[in-house]
Amino acid sequence: MAVSETSWIILAARGAGRYDVPFLMIDLHCHILHGLDDGPRELEGSIALARALVADGITIAVATPHVYKGRLDVRDRELVRQRIAELAAHVPELKVLPGAEVRMVPDLLERVEAAKDFFLLGEGAALLLEIPDLILPSGLQDIVFELRQMGLNTVLAHPERNVVLRNDWNAVSDLVDGGTLLQITDRHILGSAGREIERFCRKLIEAELAFAVASDAHGDQRRMPALTAARDRLRRWFSPQQVDPLFDANPAALLAGTR
Ligand SMILES: [Fe+2]
Repeated sequence: MAVSETSWIILAARGAGRYDVPFLMIDLHCHILHGLDDGPRELEGSIALARALVADGITIAVATPHVYKGRLDVRDRELVRQRIAELAAHVPELKVLPGAEVRMVPDLLERVEAAKDFFLLGEGAALLLEIPDLILPSGLQDIVFELRQMGLNTVLAHPERNVVLRNDWNAVSDLVDGGTLLQITDRHILGSAGREIERFCRKLIEAELAFAVASDAHGDQRRMPALTAARDRLRRWFSPQQVDPLFDANPAALLAGTR
């Protein structure tokens, strides 16, 4: 990892209450780069989303375009870097790190092994994994185990969207016990996907099974960042010690490779 990226992460960790500087949030999951997936189509949309993230209090965002066959692929890694550089010229106050939201496919491990730096969050030691909403893939635990053997953490994107997990608490604890880190989406805490999902998010945080809250912002009107609002809502229910690390210290540790 480049020195400049490391210093940003340390700065964020300082914001996590360890030093007397303002609170800084990190967004581990957003579709901020244009023309790569169902995020913004043009650079203007990407700039607008970056400004919205800054206005929401976010200092570091990991760009996580969808990766699966037929969409973004390993050969496009330079394109991701180019898009980040282009965006940085317009919104320098937001540090954008490269990453990906990787769909669970049968040859996932081979693909990751062949091009680790393309798939990882901020070039740290973690992979953001996406699963379908309606089934829990049977090989999920094995994939998490194999990735751990490769020295990689698995962050599961928005587990609250998965109907099987919502109805099977044992399956949730098994995943966490197996080392899966759960990333909740900010808007779901605020009820954008309905009461059932909102309650499930709350239950995950209450049981201390959640690892991070991220925006999964796409820049359209429905999916804009709401991290500050989600944090404020959670602070009504839980202590700052339970809430704040989900927004700063946990993602900072992940990106710094110390998790
Ligand atoms: Fe996403």
